[in-house]
Amino acid sequence: MNKLATRALVALTGSAIAMTGLAVVSANAAEKTGECRVTTTGTADWALKTSFNSYLEGPIANGTAYKYKSGIEVRDGVETSGERTTRQFTWPVEGSEEGTVNLGGGVHWTGHNHYDGDDESQVAGNFLLDLDFSNPTVKFDGNKGTLLVDFKSREFVDFTNAGEFLTGTQTELATITFDEPIDLTQENVTVTGQTTLSEIGVDVMGNFYDAGDELAPITLNLTNEVVCDEPEAPVEPEVPVDPEKPVDPETPVDPEKPGDDTDDNKNDDANNSSSNGDILGILGILAVLGGVGALVYNFLVASGFLAAFK
Ligand code: HEM
Repeated sequence: MNKLATRALVALTGSAIAMTGLAVVSANAAEKTGECRVTTTGTADWALKTSFNSYLEGPIANGTAYKYKSGIEVRDGVETSGERTTRQFTWPVEGSEEGTVNLGGGVHWTGHNHYDGDDESQVAGNFLLDLDFSNPTVKFDGNKGTLLVDFKSREFVDFTNAGEFLTGTQTELATITFDEPIDLTQENVTVTGQTTLSEIGVDVMGNFYDAGDELAPITLNLTNEVVCDEPEAPVEPEVPVDPEKPVDPETPVDPEKPGDDTDDNKNDDANNSSSNGDILGILGILAVLGGVGALVYNFLVASGFLAAFK
């Protein structure tokens, strides 16, 4: 199968697609042929919530009250800068589908470690605040959207006891209102959305916020490209092949002409032998005629017929 043969920028091909009637499908439909789809790369800036980062990296969650301090760790392509109120996370864009931009990577926030012994292996399991978000997904329809995340967060019980972990996969953490509708047929898209906490997000954040509370804005910086599969070539009718004679795979086969070039050689041989036969036949006839002429001449000499003309 010939794949990914045509690459062109969205802005240019968008109209061509409309004119040719080629369908733009989701990036996951890669196995289909003759179709075009958008591939999206880029980043998304989203800091969760400025006041939360400031609280977590400050003296309340990771201050002198605790023997073991921690903070924020990023992984799998997330980049971070700043600290406390200026903390920012830049998430990698992994692709898009219709109405969806997939982000990758993860961020881990830890604080309030209530272990004060000397066994360091106990530290990791004793953060009362232990929150992890990964693989965010931005769903959008016009300028409305939602933010989904995989999460793991220790439930807030009280200030001294560790709660159980709450977990979720692609759970709606926030709703988004974008400055303008997202259009993935544009080559470059930079759009910012205001985010607010969902009902489920309230539990995930330890019940310290209310549903609808404002979170950090999310900014998508996207580059979109249309990738088209080349339509599959029509299947050529099968050509009979001489099983005795290996066919050269490089040699093009003309389906109109059975046997094509290999049989052409045979025809050439046949033509050559038939023309050789013709020549031999003519020579034979001339030889016979010559012999008959000689016999007639001898007969005329012997009978004295020719002497009458001398
Ligand atoms: C020993 C356990 C904990 C203590 C002593 C504690 C203490 C506090 C205090 C004093 C504040 C107010 C901070 C401020 O006003 O600046 C706060 C805020 C907060 N805590 Fe905790 N907390 C604990 C556990 C947790 C847990 C398990 C979570 C779960 C995620 C959590 C999430 C939050 C959040 C989201 C805020 C609001 C931060 C903000 O935006 O200002 N806390 N916490």
